[in-house]
Amino acid sequence: MTSQIIQVEPFDLVVFGGTGDLAYRKLFPALFHRDKDNQFKNPTRIIGVSRRQMERDAFRETVKDALLKFGGVDDASTPLVARFLNRIEYAPVDVTGDAGWDGLKALLGADERVRAYYMATSPDLFGPIAKQLGAKGLVTPRSRIIVEKPIGKDGASAAAINDEIGSVFPEKRIFRIDHYLGKETVQNLMALRFANALFEPLWNNAHIDHVQITVAETLGVEGRGAYYDTSGAIRDMVQNHMLQLLCLVAMEPPASLEADALRDEKLKVLKSLARIDGSNVSALTVRGQYRGGFADGAAASSYLQDIGKEASDTETFVALKIGVANWRWAGVPFYLRTGKRLPQRFSEIEIGFRRVPHAIFDSGADSIPANRLVIRVQPDEGIKLWLMIKEPGPGGMRLQHVPLDMSFEKAFSGPSADAYERLLMDVVRGNAALFMRRDEVEAAWRFIDPIREAWTLSREPPRPYTAGTWGPAAAIALIERDGRTWNEEYE
Ligand code: BG6
Repeated sequence: MTSQIIQVEPFDLVVFGGTGDLAYRKLFPALFHRDKDNQFKNPTRIIGVSRRQMERDAFRETVKDALLKFGGVDDASTPLVARFLNRIEYAPVDVTGDAGWDGLKALLGADERVRAYYMATSPDLFGPIAKQLGAKGLVTPRSRIIVEKPIGKDGASAAAINDEIGSVFPEKRIFRIDHYLGKETVQNLMALRFANALFEPLWNNAHIDHVQITVAETLGVEGRGAYYDTSGAIRDMVQNHMLQLLCLVAMEPPASLEADALRDEKLKVLKSLARIDGSNVSALTVRGQYRGGFADGAAASSYLQDIGKEASDTETFVALKIGVANWRWAGVPFYLRTGKRLPQRFSEIEIGFRRVPHAIFDSGADSIPANRLVIRVQPDEGIKLWLMIKEPGPGGMRLQHVPLDMSFEKAFSGPSADAYERLLMDVVRGNAALFMRRDEVEAAWRFIDPIREAWTLSREPPRPYTAGTWGPAAAIALIERDGRTWNEEYE
């Protein structure tokens, strides 16, 4: 099955932080793949901006290298690569000073085509760059701004960044990226819930026992220690990606897929999260930090070695038991866990249904495992529905727990597009459905801030765990004392 490519109108994408990691690893490869599939119309351009003085052709060479290194390109001498590189321009700009802005303005010209400014920079530059764009007359009626997480490090700093950007761009033209929302299976979750009549009647506390969301990584903090040590797992992964996944599982059906209809429903979920603070934080959360061990097929250093510090209270693992205090979800715990240096890299959402109420089989109702719906976000995107069947053959009624297993890659020939490919095209189209609205970001911080404050006040350091294990034992106890277990069946 081939996907249908709908061309987007010509645009200028200006990447601030154009010589940075995000641009080279994710943005240019994503744009190349869209161009390769003929999604762009001429004269679409991509303009890298950074402080560094560089000629356009030298910058094109760096982009070419990035395509070879990160973009799955084996041969950079093809006409498709040449066509893409021809779209690349470069402007050296001192974003907090005056130098270079005239050059960028001249490059952009007076054309009224769609213009997207991507802030692939440190978050403390989001506001200043937005203001400069306004002051230098670069914000046209069709301009939009794209910002990456982290948006702030708590509610107050997020509000300040949002205020600054909002003083130049109207909310409808601010695109806050959470790349998890661009993942194929995450959108499939919406298709599963709202394009099938099967699940929605069961999607509530009468039929669902609990939900678990795991985002496990085998890598450590790699070269990002300086950033990560000021963030930790809860701010890096939970405040954004994991709460967004939770919202898509828990939200009411939106009236349409229109951006605000969807975001209104997600916001209601965020506002319903039961508060975790000093009164319950030790019962509902577990923090961990990895020690040395064996992970990703090799000996692994400790977090402290990775960041080159003697001590740190930053967590690289967190598990939470969250309540969604509303009519649909009262009494259904949402268990979330994420960590670095875990045994496997996988992200999944598991919906655990209630057990059958009455036993007609010899084994008794308690021995019949409950149905589970597992939505695999990555890798091997797909859906698994665990059912009970009769074991084939004569000799009595023996039951077996088996999965209905659907791998999207197998079913739809080949891996799906990277999240950034989809999200960047949505920006050009002006479709904000998969981007976070200001109030969502701030509501998510209102849930996270009291947890972090409680951790700080408790003075308890994160619990150590050995690299290559499933986090501290307390994280296992968090779910097992409720008579449930983390799903670790992924292979
Ligand atoms: C990023 C985090 O937002 O998401 C990283 O900052 C994390 O720490 C990454 O590794 C995970 O993304 P993915 O798409 O690889 O699951």
